[in-house]
Amino acid sequence: MPADSMISPKRLYLDNAATSFPKPACVHEAMLRYATEIGASPGRGAYAESREGANLLWRCRDALSRFFNHGGPSHTAPEHVIFTLNTSDALNLAIKGVIRRALREDPSRRVHAVTTDMDHNSVLRPFNALAQTEPRFSWTAVAADPLTGLVDPDDLRAALTPETELVATVHASNVTGTVQPLAAFGAICRAAGVTLLVDAAQSAGHTEVDCDAMGIDLLAVPGHKGLLGPLGTGALLIRPGLEHSIDPLREGGTGSVSESAFHPETMPDRFEPGSHNTPGIVGLGAALDWLINAEHQFGAGIDAIFAHERRLTEVFIDAWHAVDAPGLRLLGPQTTADRLGVFSVVHDVLGPHELAMILESEHGVLTRSGIHCAPHAHNTLGTTDRGGATRLSVGAFVTEDDVRTAVDALGSICRAMAQVS
Ligand SMILES: Cc1ncc(COP(=O)(O)O)c(C=O)c1O
Repeated sequence: MPADSMISPKRLYLDNAATSFPKPACVHEAMLRYATEIGASPGRGAYAESREGANLLWRCRDALSRFFNHGGPSHTAPEHVIFTLNTSDALNLAIKGVIRRALREDPSRRVHAVTTDMDHNSVLRPFNALAQTEPRFSWTAVAADPLTGLVDPDDLRAALTPETELVATVHASNVTGTVQPLAAFGAICRAAGVTLLVDAAQSAGHTEVDCDAMGIDLLAVPGHKGLLGPLGTGALLIRPGLEHSIDPLREGGTGSVSESAFHPETMPDRFEPGSHNTPGIVGLGAALDWLINAEHQFGAGIDAIFAHERRLTEVFIDAWHAVDAPGLRLLGPQTTADRLGVFSVVHDVLGPHELAMILESEHGVLTRSGIHCAPHAHNTLGTTDRGGATRLSVGAFVTEDDVRTAVDALGSICRAMAQVS
């Protein structure tokens, strides 16, 4: 390491909610093989390399569809898996596509959408942007409990109006780790005939997400977080049949029906103009294969990963209740119920960025501090004036000892602060 490097050798990466790190080695190997041995743009040539690229894309779509049980009775609908840049891109396509289509279909109609106060700017900002340009569009955010971050399904039901077209909700909060009662939301939306869009940025690959069982119509997922794929990958999974109720955001070349002046209606081309991030998608495919099939240190398959991360959450909560950390508060659920391994803490005196800097400089613990792109959530929790919180988030490669080390570090910083103040 160069002498002037800002990176100290002792690092404990606890920012998996931003993107997971490390990735399984097979992800890099698959990407390297694609870049060095195949290289071609899928579906743009009849030669073997281009066909091989198309085959790899298809396998990744199929794996995503099966992983999230999204295809209806056949349990797979690969052509209804749309590759995106990230979760935000998938959410933009779903939100703007559904709302603009509804506005266009009936020019006399007002259109309404519902989200929650625990949702991310990736939902809130597209809604605000639409409301600025579409006078017939409005939206409502349902309040969450300030202690747990949970949204009461009855409050969600009460927010629906005859004009409501879409409910967009986060599954697990990126601030408190709170897991919303999705199946109850799904039942409410189904009964009301409202489309349910789920932001699974923090749950995909960390806990079960089952489109059919939970009544999810549209699922936005990152490839680069819990699914362990590379940055620059994500997907929108569309319930078969719903694609006709979503306007595309973009048009362009698809390598199909090139003689036509208009963008094709067929899936997945309808929502995928232009060349793909094929190396990234190939990496994501390898990551899914690893998650589903590999023997790893925690056992085999995705259930072992889920169990490992549940165990990390238990270890954090136990260590949290045992540690002497004067002046420090944990936001959200105080037990393992209704939560995943995303933990945000607030100190009476130290600001969130100061705490994050001390965690890094003195303990090598890497966290994310601030408002976490979730301004309503911090308003709900009463932490906006403090500048947000300091967030620690686990992932598949974090160990129980890592979690104890991080909680011990929080304790020692807070005890040192208590002595000087
Ligand atoms: C709850 C939630 N939604 C959406 C996003 C946006 O994800 P991406 O960076 O994949 O666009 C994030 C990112 O952290 C998130 O935590």
